[in-house]
Amino acid sequence: MAVKTIRDVQVSHRRVLIREDFNVPVDANGDITSDSRIINAMPTIKYILDRDAKIILMSHFGRPTAQEDKYRLDKVGERLSEVLKVKVRKMDQVVGEEVTEAVSQMQHKEIVLLENVRFDKRETKNDPVFSRELALLGELFVNDAFSASHREHSSVCGVADFLPTCAGFQMEKEIQELSKVLDNPVHPFILLQGGAKVSTKIGIIRKLLPKLDKICIGGGMAFTFLKALGHNVGKSFTEEDCVELAKEILEEAKKLGKEIVLPTDFIITDSLEHPQQRQVINLAQFPDNMIGADIGPVSIETFKRTLIYGKMILCNGPMGVFEMPGFKTGTLDLYRFLGDIRDSYEIAAGGDTSAAIEQFGLMNKFTYISSGGGATLEFLEGKILPGIAKLNA
Ligand code: 3PG
Repeated sequence: MAVKTIRDVQVSHRRVLIREDFNVPVDANGDITSDSRIINAMPTIKYILDRDAKIILMSHFGRPTAQEDKYRLDKVGERLSEVLKVKVRKMDQVVGEEVTEAVSQMQHKEIVLLENVRFDKRETKNDPVFSRELALLGELFVNDAFSASHREHSSVCGVADFLPTCAGFQMEKEIQELSKVLDNPVHPFILLQGGAKVSTKIGIIRKLLPKLDKICIGGGMAFTFLKALGHNVGKSFTEEDCVELAKEILEEAKKLGKEIVLPTDFIITDSLEHPQQRQVINLAQFPDNMIGADIGPVSIETFKRTLIYGKMILCNGPMGVFEMPGFKTGTLDLYRFLGDIRDSYEIAAGGDTSAAIEQFGLMNKFTYISSGGGATLEFLEGKILPGIAKLNA
């Protein structure tokens, strides 16, 4: 899927309104714990800045229900100024007189960052009046926020109704890389599927099953599949209402001749909140009162023996509760292994996946790490994302 980008339009000396996704993770003090989303925005911002344009940046941050200080973009503005080595003028409003005034006084090569667009309740309603107020700030709209493009909001979609619109480099790259999975997978094409819920991943599995050669399923969702096969999984998290769905997937895979590899041993615990016990067990010995928190060493080896043949590997979701030191081995070992497979094309998709990769310091090991959470999953399900549809309108 090709989209018009900033390479195809005249940006020099214009007022360019850019939608980025600065929805960065923060700690209890509001300090940014990963600036990947700020760094990912740099190619687009620098390209436009180098062409003597005036830049007006928009982003959401969190899901505020009121204008609370913890949702302000001040720290993002500070970090942007540091990275760009250009003072970014952070506004305390999204739109209104002060913003209009500041924008009208901008010189070339200056950057203004609007306040969190979700501070205006009209944003998430894709309100046309608000979209127009935003659009009036620029002469050209650049959408670089792939990870927000599944939201039909004013700063993602509505603005495009009032301004010439194109994609930034980050948006272009995401569409190019993720389209390879959908349109042009290299075989053997293997999915390493993890995460807690079958219900949130079913769309991807369904969409990709005909294209895939094999699937390894770990993480919490493996328990729903194992239950569908009649195994006892103790007190592990399962989705009762997805057991039938898991059965259907297993049958469909069988019909299509696609192998689904499930874990056969686990690290179990008495509690995920306050674990006192930690034990490795085989599936056949699963105690009734224990919870599966990670895949076990035999399963890790089995998955590796499958993954090693992959020429394209899509990695989506962790293998266990990787945030807790006792239950991170499955995810860490397999992600490390993926990063070391030679001549394979590894794509990491989903918010938890990229968080785990970052936690383990494996960012340079994967061929491509998508910046999106929900947007990436919906794209891979084959949905037309509203923000991307606007780029082709
Ligand atoms: C994300 O982190 O996935 C994006 O920034 C979208 O955030 P949202 O789910 O709050 O719309």
